[in-house]
Amino acid sequence: MAEPGVIRKLSEEVVNRIAAGEIIQRPANALKELIENSLDAKSTNIVITVKAGGLKYLQIQDNGTGIRNDNLDIVCERFTTSKLKEFDDLRQISTYGFRGEALASISHIAHLTLLTKTAADKCAYKASYENGKLKGPIKACAGNNGTQITVEDLFYNVLARKKALRSPTEEYAHIMEVVGGYAIHNSRVGFTLKKFGENTDIKTPVKSTVVENVRSVCMFQV
Ligand SMILES: Nc1ncnc2c1ncn2[C@@H]1O[C@H](COP(=O)(O)OP(=O)(O)OP(=O)(O)O)[C@@H](O)[C@H]1O
Ligand SMILES: [Mg+2]
Repeated sequence: MAEPGVIRKLSEEVVNRIAAGEIIQRPANALKELIENSLDAKSTNIVITVKAGGLKYLQIQDNGTGIRNDNLDIVCERFTTSKLKEFDDLRQISTYGFRGEALASISHIAHLTLLTKTAADKCAYKASYENGKLKGPIKACAGNNGTQITVEDLFYNVLARKKALRSPTEEYAHIMEVVGGYAIHNSRVGFTLKKFGENTDIKTPVKSTVVENVRSVCMFQV
């Protein structure tokens, strides 16, 4: 009879990478999380720039509340959120997010850089993350109110997943679908989607109707 296997506790890094893979299976999933964060931050304008179907480069710039400078050290750790304090808060939650897992997940399977400025800050702050933790010091720099998140080399450390997603064109089609959906249903928010260095593929104006947004999104897709 075969011997039973030895049960071992997985390392935190392996646990986090597996958990990340459950939330982010392709670039469009990462982008969905980032768009929801921008909407939760009351943005009225969201600009998304993509290279190689989001596998190489995915950037989202919003004009929302920004992230407090003194929160930048923990923002990419798992289970850190500004949207929930107590379990009972879930009964009246009005944000898309509440788990405090999305940025952490992305930072475990990609290089994540964040540039953010609140209305109260005199300048913007830039920070890079790896495996949930700050990678180097936070730097003061120029920037607009709001948050810009850049995700590079998605799945660089999950080779099986990277091999399975070989077509940037197909990944871009998924991204168009995600952006189109949020652009249509969020009339008070302007959305722009473009490939790096190329023409805009989706553009909806700030404060438009759902019907106008449907027209804009479909016009760009024909
Ligand atoms: N674009 C943004 N503008 C302002 N704050 C942001 C932005 N993106 C993230 N944050 C802040 O970072 C925190 C962590 O984001 P993250 O997406 O990981 O968790 P969450 O949105 O709270 O929950 P979930 O994991 O369900 O999405 C948020 O709670 C929010 O405070
Ligand atoms: Mg979120």
